[in-house]
Amino acid sequence: MENITAAITAVGAYLPDFVLTNAILETMVDTNDEWITTRTGIKERRILKDPNKGTSYMAIKAAENLLEKRGIKAEEIDLIIVATATPDMPVAATAAYVASEIGATNAFAFDLQAACSSFLYGMSSAASYIESGRYKKVLLIGADKMSSILDYTDRATCIIFGDGAGAVLFEPNNEGLGFVDEYLRSDGIGREFLKIEAGGSLLPASEETVKNKQHYVFQDGRNVFKHAVSNMADVAEKIMMRNELSDEDVNWLVPHQANKRIIDATAQRMGVAEDKVMINIHKYGNTTSATLPLLLNDYEKQLHKGDNLVFAAFGGGFTWGSIYIKWAYNS
Ligand code: UT7
Repeated sequence: MENITAAITAVGAYLPDFVLTNAILETMVDTNDEWITTRTGIKERRILKDPNKGTSYMAIKAAENLLEKRGIKAEEIDLIIVATATPDMPVAATAAYVASEIGATNAFAFDLQAACSSFLYGMSSAASYIESGRYKKVLLIGADKMSSILDYTDRATCIIFGDGAGAVLFEPNNEGLGFVDEYLRSDGIGREFLKIEAGGSLLPASEETVKNKQHYVFQDGRNVFKHAVSNMADVAEKIMMRNELSDEDVNWLVPHQANKRIIDATAQRMGVAEDKVMINIHKYGNTTSATLPLLLNDYEKQLHKGDNLVFAAFGGGFTWGSIYIKWAYNS
């Protein structure tokens, strides 16, 4: 049987208009531009202000942007995966709604949640469906309305995150381009350090949980930082060694945008030069499931067929990993 590889063949994105700058945050909590910039690298983020719009709104826009760029009809899509930590509702897959709204009448759809690693794990899943030979067009969307789960009086979290959505299409490739290798990890020890405590089966929503603000993101930043730095670098290095990639061979590092210092540490361990590291954290902050496709969207014009891309992410759970793909098209 012919060896099918799974290649990314199109990218799309959507970012809400409202720009939440560090200057605005200075008026909301006890913080300052200098602290945020030096500690995180973030200057501004986008916020979906409309209280009547959820994550699906941005996911639909990103999907429509991709379909238009690729020049295909929604009916051609076989599967839609929405990677998200902020689904429209806890039950009723956001992906099913997105599929119906864009007119993907021949697709089945589901959500995938692995905090900031959702999109990375989604890439693994999407690629596997293509490699199996059973599906020809898998749409993977990373979308999060982080502003819906943030306490804007908590300076430890509200300065970090932003809203946004990005999408990629996976299709079969017979030139040996696309998905090459993955190294994905998780460790439940991390759930104490980055979580939303209430609203799940362990601690259902109640007046008490709302009063205690337990429906907002809690993060022990220092602890998460420590694990993120060592683990993201470890997996990226492992992928390079396993595939005999030198720093020269890596054309692009595509790192989750949680903190510029974590990104720099990963690049340094890999020996990858600064100009090969995709960065947009200064513009969008940490958009959780959307960081990786938003990077691809921003850098799409600079990518060339055959380029070696190493993705790396770390997130709540803990979840983390690295993926190596060969870029499949010139735009
Ligand atoms: O994407 C999912 C995974 N998440 C991550 O990878 C995030 C990992 N963590 C981080 O990026 C960093 O830990 C943060 C950016 C969240 C925080 O940076 P930090 O250098 O670890 O700061 P810290 O939490 O150790 O706090 C240092 C000081 C503290 O004051 P004291 O105790 O030294 O007096 C904080 O109270 O900075 C203070 N602080 C702030 N000051 C001004 C905390 N947040 C702020 C703030 N503005 N927004």
